[in-house]
Amino acid sequence: MGMQEKINELLSLRTQAKLGGGEKRIEKQHQQGKFTARERINMLLDEGSFEEFDMFVRHRCTNFGMDKDSYPGDGVVTGYGSIDGRLVFVFAQDFTTYGGSLSETQAAKICKVLDQAMKVGAPVIGINDSGGARIQEGVNSLGGYAEIFKRNILASGVIPQISAIFGPCAGGAVYSPALTDFIMMVKNTSYMFLTGPKVVKTVTGEDVTTENLGGTTVHASKSGVAQLIAQTEEEGIAQLRRLLSYLPSNNMETAPDTVCNDPIERIENRLNELIPDNPNKPYDVKEVICLLTDNGEFFEIATNYAKNIVVGFARMGGMSVGVVANQPSHMAGVLDINASRKGARFVRFCDAFNIPLVTLVDVPGFLPGTGQEYGGVIVHGAKLLYAYGEATVPKVTVTLRKSYGGSHIVMSCKQLRGDINYAWPTAEIAVMGAEGAVEVLYAKEIAAETDPQKQAEAFLAKKEEYNNLFCNPYTAAKFGYIDDVIEPRNTRYRVIKALRCLQTKRQENPAKKHDNIPL
Ligand code: HXC
Repeated sequence: MGMQEKINELLSLRTQAKLGGGEKRIEKQHQQGKFTARERINMLLDEGSFEEFDMFVRHRCTNFGMDKDSYPGDGVVTGYGSIDGRLVFVFAQDFTTYGGSLSETQAAKICKVLDQAMKVGAPVIGINDSGGARIQEGVNSLGGYAEIFKRNILASGVIPQISAIFGPCAGGAVYSPALTDFIMMVKNTSYMFLTGPKVVKTVTGEDVTTENLGGTTVHASKSGVAQLIAQTEEEGIAQLRRLLSYLPSNNMETAPDTVCNDPIERIENRLNELIPDNPNKPYDVKEVICLLTDNGEFFEIATNYAKNIVVGFARMGGMSVGVVANQPSHMAGVLDINASRKGARFVRFCDAFNIPLVTLVDVPGFLPGTGQEYGGVIVHGAKLLYAYGEATVPKVTVTLRKSYGGSHIVMSCKQLRGDINYAWPTAEIAVMGAEGAVEVLYAKEIAAETDPQKQAEAFLAKKEEYNNLFCNPYTAAKFGYIDDVIEPRNTRYRVIKALRCLQTKRQENPAKKHDNIPL
């Protein structure tokens, strides 16, 4: 064969490989409102940047007549490319080939991508669309999963790992995404569960649809398994690209700074009037966040899960930051099991990847009750406490209003290694709210008063005394527990200056094998 013929052969093999499981199956994929693995990668990466690995890999299985049947690529497209010019590794399962099911060789392809990404310190995005273990391969497939899980674990905290679920993801296959940093799902076409509806029916007798067992609504709001939800694959891919822009490529780097066209000294008069006079009235903390960040942009994570805490990425003065804020407009911003878990995971991610934390505090306390205690709120609340306490990234905290008791300590207080802690004049930093405090301290004295009118007056007088003494930022300021009381409208400027001051922060935790965060 001459050179030209050899080149023609290569080109024809490539064309064949690019067809995956063939045109019919591609058509079926499209009919279901899904893109193919290659189409997804092309949408995700900068145009023309994709370099593919292992296009000619085929499975080695001989069971069930599989030796007579194979497709180049073996159900996954892998390689690297760039997003906004930054290196990223990708794999996308190809449902048109054996339903994207995972064979030993498919696993080896995914492992190669993870290994290469670890060598050079670049993020990995995995697009999942698979019927699970390649049934014909038995334990070889299981071994393949374990090889992937092992690499996910070792890469955790070293390179960002993001999973997009763009189709089925069931059985033990869910554990690779679960080991990564973020999971995205697409409405109507993606689902995740350990055991499908049929097995559920057999084992528990429960009747449940695929959607109600593991669709986007379940994982976005009930389980919290998926942090990002998209209406369509295109929207999902745009979200993945945006998410990456806030992250460094690995744990040795910081996230890329962007040019900030939004004046850092921007004064926001609206912030001076945003807190209602009545301390029990809610307001939307997302409005505060967007008034503080560059161009009012905020990339929220886990929007519909534990809405009483808001977490997400933004830029301040061009610097990527992680924002954590109590949300007074949902359950009064109280901390509970889910909010603690959500907050802790986000804080730990930011700390692992050198992203400074900006914390906005308005928290009345932990949610009381048997539901929370039986669920182990002590341990779950400790997660958030632990995450803030161990974090060594720059931490800037602004107390907007309430900051009571244990929740005051949890939310990045000074003694928990908060670096720069500010408070608005509306801040109430105390052990508890006035009403509760007066009831504990003066219940007997007030009850001794027989005239109801006088009783009410005595209660009010004590409440006022307590409010004057504790429900303000100045007592905490007196002890240096907060560094300054600031005018709300200047907050953007003050926070950016604080972040810039902290840019060279160096802090080490004691040497240890690893920590033992309360799980
Ligand atoms: C081999 C598979 C497969 C699998 C699908 N296919 N799943 N081949 N192993 N696990 C093949 C089908 O035979 C079919 O081949 C093609 O992929 C498309 O599948 P369809 O069934 O036609 O597609 P659809 O109707 O969309 O249904 C998708 C599905 C269904 C719901 C995912 O295929 C399904 O239930 N698959 C089996 C799921 C499963 O039980 N997996 C094992 C779970 S245990 P043709 O040639 O017709 O195109 C597991 C353990 C992991 O995963 C443990 C890790 C630790």
